Amino acid sequence: MEILSVKNVKKHFGGVKAVDGCSIRIETGTVMGLIGPNGAGKTTLFNLISGFEKGSGEITFKGMRTDKLPPFKIARCGMVRTFQIPRALSKMTVLENLLLAPKAQHGERIWNVWLRRKSVQMQENTIKEKSREILEFFEISHLEDEYAGALSGGQKKLLEMARAIAIDPSLMMLDEPFAGVNPTLARKITGYIDELREGGMTFFIIEHDIPAITKISDKITVMSEGKVLTEGTPDEIRSNPDVLNVYLGGEG
Ligand SMILES: Nc1ncnc2c1ncn2[C@@H]1O[C@H](COP(=O)(O)OP(=O)(O)OP(=O)(O)O)[C@@H](O)[C@H]1O
Ligand SMILES: [Mg+2]
Repeated sequence: MEILSVKNVKKHFGGVKAVDGCSIRIETGTVMGLIGPNGAGKTTLFNLISGFEKGSGEITFKGMRTDKLPPFKIARCGMVRTFQIPRALSKMTVLENLLLAPKAQHGERIWNVWLRRKSVQMQENTIKEKSREILEFFEISHLEDEYAGALSGGQKKLLEMARAIAIDPSLMMLDEPFAGVNPTLARKITGYIDELREGGMTFFIIEHDIPAITKISDKITVMSEGKVLTEGTPDEIRSNPDVLNVYLGGEG
């Protein structure tokens, strides 16, 4: 069954056709890679799907049109994304960053705090437990009380993923999870993605590290100049001369 369907999506910035008529379908429980040279429109496509930019075309997530919805509503439907530059709240601790992430917290509504103090208290405890489990999964429990701003680049990437998981997503969109990450951590991240996928999660992953993305993806979409150049299995993509050409062309 398909979880995400993108049909003829476009976003132009003045004369720049950042995304110029893209169509992509992702099957539930699979990993779709997204590659292409710098400026191909990959991040803009993620922004459109997650609602951070509005353009034209149709986006359907779990059978529901989402292209007119704001980002927080799309997230509540179970779609999360991370950013090319991590956006964790630097003046808060790692644990606090996670506590803020879960959706539908009773404590968010001030009247609930008065009316249902007890249930809010209980829910906060559960959220804390759940947050700690997530930190354990990503092996960053020891950083619980560190300020997010003090983390290394790789640790920030893990915190971004941890925050995304905290909202119980069914689709995780990662923008360059391996960029600036050392090989040991990259292997770990690959392991986390594999494990989450085995648990039924779907992934859509932008990545420049071709060996890494071909290893974890079921299928790969190649973008060039705002368009989908081709889509196929990692083997098909590796042996497609057009793909090599856009990369060589992109580097002059
Ligand atoms: N907010 C914006 N305003 C104007 N132009 C933009 C904006 N965002 C992106 N662009 C342009 O749209 C094109 C696609 O950019 P985008 O960031 O989506 O590419 P990308 O494939 O993610 O590249 P990279 O691999 O370098 O991250 C580029 O030419 C970029 O300069
Ligand atoms: Mg990008």
